[in-house]
Amino acid sequence: MIDLHSHFLPGVDDGAPDLATALEMARMAVADGVTIQACTPHILPGLYHNTGPEIRLATRTLQRHLDDADIPLTLVAGADVHIAPDLVEGLRSGRVLSIADTRYVLVEPPHHVAPLRLVDSFFSLLLAGYVPILTHPERLSWIASHYASIEKLFQSGVLMQLTAGALLGGFGRAPRYWAERMLDEGRAHILASDAHGVGRRRPNLGAGFEAAAQRVGEEEASALVLGRPRMILANEPPSRLPAPSRATVTAANANARSMRNNGGGNGHQVETDHGDGDGWRDFLGRMRAIFR
Ligand SMILES: [Fe+2]
Repeated sequence: MIDLHSHFLPGVDDGAPDLATALEMARMAVADGVTIQACTPHILPGLYHNTGPEIRLATRTLQRHLDDADIPLTLVAGADVHIAPDLVEGLRSGRVLSIADTRYVLVEPPHHVAPLRLVDSFFSLLLAGYVPILTHPERLSWIASHYASIEKLFQSGVLMQLTAGALLGGFGRAPRYWAERMLDEGRAHILASDAHGVGRRRPNLGAGFEAAAQRVGEEEASALVLGRPRMILANEPPSRLPAPSRATVTAANANARSMRNNGGGNGHQVETDHGDGDGWRDFLGRMRAIFR
């Protein structure tokens, strides 16, 4: 697998605090089946002032440590770029990094406030020849009230990256709901770990792949963690990336969705198992357990 989003580089943001943690994360990623890991620290004005040259140097340094420790993981440099008005200029000057110097850029909007000019910001990147990858839309607290904007970005050629941990329920019910919904609707291009350490936000792409495969099948799940990421690293034009395929919605899935969708991802959904014939039975069992 190829993991296009992570915070492995030690001491540069809220990811790995030190080299020992970074090495442990790398061992976990390898054990998980990852062969290529993008190191994408935050670039967030006012908080994380990482620059392109610093990230490249830190990535090369960590790669040397991995090689010395015989950890078979290839690193590529990138950045988790917070949305800002001067992104195009930053990319052109090298202050901001795309993924492995391709046209593809990880872009992170604010988590708790929808930017006023969200769509415009992404359009300016597209017009400049870059392909923005919107990181973890499922975890944005405003997605429920702005899903039309997310759909518009998708239609306009912005790629969508879901987080493995969200699919696994590690970020709570609403992010899981939106991750599953975007997968089911065929609106997700990439699944990544966004790993920050060895605890709750550890490298977990293998489990994420399994969870995705249960909803959209192994072929599409493989496209999420290998097929499209490989084409992105090869800087293939976005028109060549395979379009995401939708989930085959089973009766159990539909039941679970309609019950959890009550309120559109507002955090009050009841979680159920999904993707198997027992989903509805499980749901009833849990409801009985809650009200017992
Ligand atoms: Fe991130």
